[in-house]
Amino acid sequence: MKVAEYLAKAQAQWARFNAWVQLDSQHLTPGQQLAVHYFSVAVILFFAQLLFGLIAATQFIFPGFLYGWLDFSVNRMVHINAMVVWMLYGFIGCIYWLLEDESGTDIVGLKLGRLAFWLLTGAVTLVVLVYLLVQIGPGKDSSLWLINEGREYIEAPRWADIGIVVVMLIFFYNVVATFSKGRWSGIAGVLTLDLVALAGLYVAGMFYMVNITHDQYWWWWVIHLWVEATWEVLVGVIMAWSLMKLLGV
Ligand code: HEM
Repeated sequence: MKVAEYLAKAQAQWARFNAWVQLDSQHLTPGQQLAVHYFSVAVILFFAQLLFGLIAATQFIFPGFLYGWLDFSVNRMVHINAMVVWMLYGFIGCIYWLLEDESGTDIVGLKLGRLAFWLLTGAVTLVVLVYLLVQIGPGKDSSLWLINEGREYIEAPRWADIGIVVVMLIFFYNVVATFSKGRWSGIAGVLTLDLVALAGLYVAGMFYMVNITHDQYWWWWVIHLWVEATWEVLVGVIMAWSLMKLLGV
């Protein structure tokens, strides 16, 4: 292809991209507006992650810093939990962003999806407040249900676990019902299978085990197969859609 032709094509592509990326809320679809809610919380959680990481790092250098007020164990936990949760918010936001476009129809059950966002955000806020306000206590059944499950990366208490599963089911319903109403595609199929695995693995981290070795084995599956399997496929789905849009194929 001649250079002039190539430049003309690139220019046309750029104009299409600019027309597509009109990011004020007037130009966003209802699904994309919900996505922006998810992205906003993801950004807040990312900064919370940095803040608590910085406090934890300071405590490496000055071990007495905030000791008895905000201990290293709590800061490290909030740092890592914030990371897991902002990434999930980012993924969910991306899927709501592309769902209408990929399915060719409106999102089914969008009101329920909006309710799920507020439920999840309320639960995350409450869980973090309890982490900060109840830093030490007895390891009873009630602690596991209400305060902290004690499993690294997924310390959220059991009530929040159940809430997260409910929210994920609503998200799953939004995705599958929307594709079923509109059109299925390769992206839709991979995404649906991935969401089954994503939700299924989370449930694996909700069993109580007496033996700590067995217990660690299960939560290891949750966090590692999340990150190393289901999250990567999810990112693949998001990248596939984005590349198709950017390249206009
Ligand atoms: C200002 C930036 C950051 C600071 C100061 C910071 C600080 C820390 C500290 C002090 C720990 C605890 C280490 C330990 O227990 O020995 C930690 C752990 C961790 N951080 Fe960060 N962090 C930052 C950014 C990030 C980012 C951006 C991510 C990922 C997106 C991240 C992911 C992790 C993970 C996964 C762990 C756990 C590592 C393990 O268990 O081995 N951190 N961080």
